[in-house]
Amino acid sequence: MKRIGVMTSGGDAPGMNAAIRAVVRAGLKDDVSVIGFKRGYNGILMRSTEQADDFSLMTSRSVSDKIHRGGTFLMTARCADFHKPEVQKRALDNLRTLGVEGLICIGGNGTFAGADALYQQGYPTICVPGTIDNDLAYTDYTIGFDTALNTACECVNRIRETSDSHERASMVTVMGRDCGDIAVHTALACGAEMVMIPEIPWSVEDVADRVKWGVMKGKHSMIMIFAEGATESLTSDVATLCAKYESLNEISLHHITSSQIAMMIEALSGHETRATVLGYTQRGGSPTANDRILASRLGARALELLRDDIGGRAVGIRDNHIIDIPIGEAKVCRSATDPSLYDLIATLS
Ligand code: F6P
Repeated sequence: MKRIGVMTSGGDAPGMNAAIRAVVRAGLKDDVSVIGFKRGYNGILMRSTEQADDFSLMTSRSVSDKIHRGGTFLMTARCADFHKPEVQKRALDNLRTLGVEGLICIGGNGTFAGADALYQQGYPTICVPGTIDNDLAYTDYTIGFDTALNTACECVNRIRETSDSHERASMVTVMGRDCGDIAVHTALACGAEMVMIPEIPWSVEDVADRVKWGVMKGKHSMIMIFAEGATESLTSDVATLCAKYESLNEISLHHITSSQIAMMIEALSGHETRATVLGYTQRGGSPTANDRILASRLGARALELLRDDIGGRAVGIRDNHIIDIPIGEAKVCRSATDPSLYDLIATLS
């Protein structure tokens, strides 16, 4: 191929810029020109009022001074109607009109689903895993996970200091959607006492007992890492708990939040418990060296595949080797985080 497109889609992840840079620079070396589409699939659908705001030809200078920057300079978006065949057809028409022979899609499983749909209709696409969640089962790591993990660790270190001074327990909520990887790795790296994740059932009663046990052992502070999807695996009868403790009477049972879980733990354990939600702090920031290196390797490999007229593949990393597999197999999300890491957190606490 001589002209290809690149875009970032879904939630941004630190290292996406490094991946775009690798695609563009590897392309220039092999005489493949690269069109950068903005705001994910929306740029291909030309949804801006000005065409120049939807896509542009990338030069070496377009990607200068970008490798160390968080976010994505091509911007990103979720494209809610891209599952519709008529929308996909419009995207394919636009790509062909522009003479773009193949597309590199950087993002998570939603992005992969869109890329797979285009490939099924005969258009060559290559997927690059870019999401902080690390929830794509076929690759050991996704671009952005390492940075998000390090950011979360830094925040937890700070929370530990203030919790220690006040002799409190702290529950820290991290992102990850339905995957506990950010939570488990943060907990292990920060020496957290407990971790709650969507993949493993847990109860408020058990957590509160462990808080009480920690107090008895003389711990000054306790850190619990709470994956944002962990309410899904909560086994406690919350209605009964809330009826039993006056301080929990106000809790709305329709939507249980992590702050409310912290209130329940405090009520059951009798130990002051505070909640912090790290939120979007985890998605921003300069990518770590590991994420920049991973993004550079995956971006360059994606370009090579399209250059050689190969489509329908997702690139990834396994045992430090760059691999590629069919997109249809790659879009499967990780269903369970490594249980041995989960057990190790309990052993070491
Ligand atoms: O997929 C990345 C992610 O940051 C998840 O961890 C989180 O659940 C979600 O995106 C948040 O998405 P939005 O940017 O739409 O709020």
